Amino acid sequence: MSGAVEIKLADRMSKLGTETAFDVLVRARALEAEGKHVIHLQLGEPDFDTPQHIVDAAVDALRSGDTHYTPTAGIPALRKAIADYTSETREIEFAPEHVVVTPGGKPIMFFVILALAGEGDEVVYPDPGFPIYQSVVNFSGATPVPLELKEEEGFGFSPDQIRSLVNDKTKLVIINSPHNPTGGMISEESLEELARLAVKHDFMVMSDEIYSRIAYDYDTVPKSISTYPGMRERTIILDGFSKTFAMTGWRLGYGVMPTKLAEQVTRLAVNCNSCTPGFIQQAGIAALTGPQEPVEAMVEEFRRRRDMMVTGLNEIPGISCIQPAGAFYVFPNVKQLGKTSDDVANDLMYEGHVALVSGTSFGAAGEGYIRISYANSMENLQEALNRIKSTVERVY
Ligand SMILES: Cc1ncc(COP(=O)(O)O)c(C=O)c1O
Repeated sequence: MSGAVEIKLADRMSKLGTETAFDVLVRARALEAEGKHVIHLQLGEPDFDTPQHIVDAAVDALRSGDTHYTPTAGIPALRKAIADYTSETREIEFAPEHVVVTPGGKPIMFFVILALAGEGDEVVYPDPGFPIYQSVVNFSGATPVPLELKEEEGFGFSPDQIRSLVNDKTKLVIINSPHNPTGGMISEESLEELARLAVKHDFMVMSDEIYSRIAYDYDTVPKSISTYPGMRERTIILDGFSKTFAMTGWRLGYGVMPTKLAEQVTRLAVNCNSCTPGFIQQAGIAALTGPQEPVEAMVEEFRRRRDMMVTGLNEIPGISCIQPAGAFYVFPNVKQLGKTSDDVANDLMYEGHVALVSGTSFGAAGEGYIRISYANSMENLQEALNRIKSTVERVY
């Protein structure tokens, strides 16, 4: 076909952003096609295999004919397993009616923002932060209000900061702890103030808790904003299987929210994806109710890697790195190198053959930082540290 027909897109398409970690992957693959050996530290996915008992559950379900449409909000057994798991880990009661199952946690973001936010509303989101938040808030027509996360606050935010950003126009505040891209966590003092403000100004909070099991200082999961007074009816917990159970490619996630909102999110889902595959949901039940040792072993391994990365990065002149409390990212400060984050990320890709993401891919406040995902072997991480060091010494 010739390219003669001009596609006249709807205006709203100009408001939609993207996730650049996938672009970095494409550029890294192009280098590999030229015969270069690239170390991949750009993607946010565990390098572990999905535990065997979870795979077996999906295969058994497929073999027994679980190949049909399922209820839009999720099969009853998985909604119950998620409600039980969330009640136990967050220490607050949830019922299956609070749960909507989706193909990954990402659709919960899309559906919840579209269900709640529109013209004239303000939505506060973390900057730096997962780029899809700002993208979908823009798409919804609401005004995105960045909440700047600062290194000196451990990439959390202070009670004063959140107080200065919310008002009666605020419809939704998005938080993410442990946090992508920084690995930072929000203090309980700030969560408490946010909860107080949510009740006062009558807004909802979408709490992206997808990294809740990868929190190095907790035996269970960190305290959720949903547990503060008045917050169970104002919180959407976003969670999923991608990170905790190394199931990124399976596409299985969920939201736990007030039933009235769950009904509306389900209405959006029936207009979009109809349902989540039944055999995948069976795997989800196995993940939540089966042995948790694989999760614990993965988190221990991530802790070893985090410690090595933080030590190694701090030994490189011009780079400094605070110790993250969760997730599997470090967010080193590269301001002393005297170039923009984009330039540093490009130099490390093309001179050092280490693929990672510029801090500005996560918002304007990411300038001066780069994001490194340490979801890679200790051996590759050590080699990446060597390459970063030699590139910095050569180029800067
Ligand atoms: C902060 C955050 N939230 C949500 C997601 C979505 O994960 P998924 O759609 O694979 O469940 C990601 C994935 O990278 C993430 O980093």
